[in-house]
Amino acid sequence: MNPVHTTIAAVALLAAAGSAKPRGSRSATAAAMTALATRYAPVLIEYGVQVVATMSRSQIKQYLSLDRKGQIDLIRRRLAFIPVSGWAVRAYIGKGERAESLAVFIEDFLREHGEKSVELATKIAKQQAAKTVKGSANQNGLHKLQHLLALLRTLRWHYHTTHWRVQGKNFYGDHLMFERLYKGDPSLDDEIDTLGEKMVSLYGRDVVTSQAIWPEATRSLEAVASQSCPYRQALMLEQEVQQTLKSAHDILKSEGRLTAGMDDYLIALANERDTAIYLLKQRLS
Ligand SMILES: [Fe+2]
Repeated sequence: MNPVHTTIAAVALLAAAGSAKPRGSRSATAAAMTALATRYAPVLIEYGVQVVATMSRSQIKQYLSLDRKGQIDLIRRRLAFIPVSGWAVRAYIGKGERAESLAVFIEDFLREHGEKSVELATKIAKQQAAKTVKGSANQNGLHKLQHLLALLRTLRWHYHTTHWRVQGKNFYGDHLMFERLYKGDPSLDDEIDTLGEKMVSLYGRDVVTSQAIWPEATRSLEAVASQSCPYRQALMLEQEVQQTLKSAHDILKSEGRLTAGMDDYLIALANERDTAIYLLKQRLS
């Protein structure tokens, strides 16, 4: 699912949760939730409501009285109570800026919905979980891994090409940065190689044929063609990698096909590619 579809789905989900609220103004709640969905990334909303759903009334009061650092510490402690997406939340808020965004989202949510926060968050979290299970029946983990392999090979091609094409006053820095983005340690070639070997070992050699992966890679390139800037195209591809990693992990787990090695690989890759997102964002800011 591309980021736009994910956002639209999040808006619809939140609006539905708002309209299902038993008391209060239905349309006002739906509007407030829709406003949240347009202000925050879907993944932030997903993790935020999961954290709120585990809170008690006294923790809500305590949370609102804490400074930002205290709030982040409290969120980290609550993460132990989130069974399904625990790893993903930990990877997501591993960076300071993200932890802060999550803390701000939760504070907004708690202030907006007061004592009803936990009830509403639980309802939204349940709907999200039902949606994940439904999605798993249609899209299996193998397809997600093939998409991931195609994305990584696309990125490898795109970074090398951009390394040649950069020009202007930032030429030398950019030339080196794009080289680092595919040659860094571990290099994208190493990441691609590990994934390909794991896929063959789990599903057989036919799942990684050029005929299976190439069309998927072409679709990924077409999806970012709306952007003419190669730096922004790279950022979109990296963000798609993060979303694909998360869904591959969740679906493989629900299928009972997540080996310890694959689990480790996906988490390590999420951290590695986070660094690429950081470099690209700093360059574009
Ligand atoms: Fe070179």
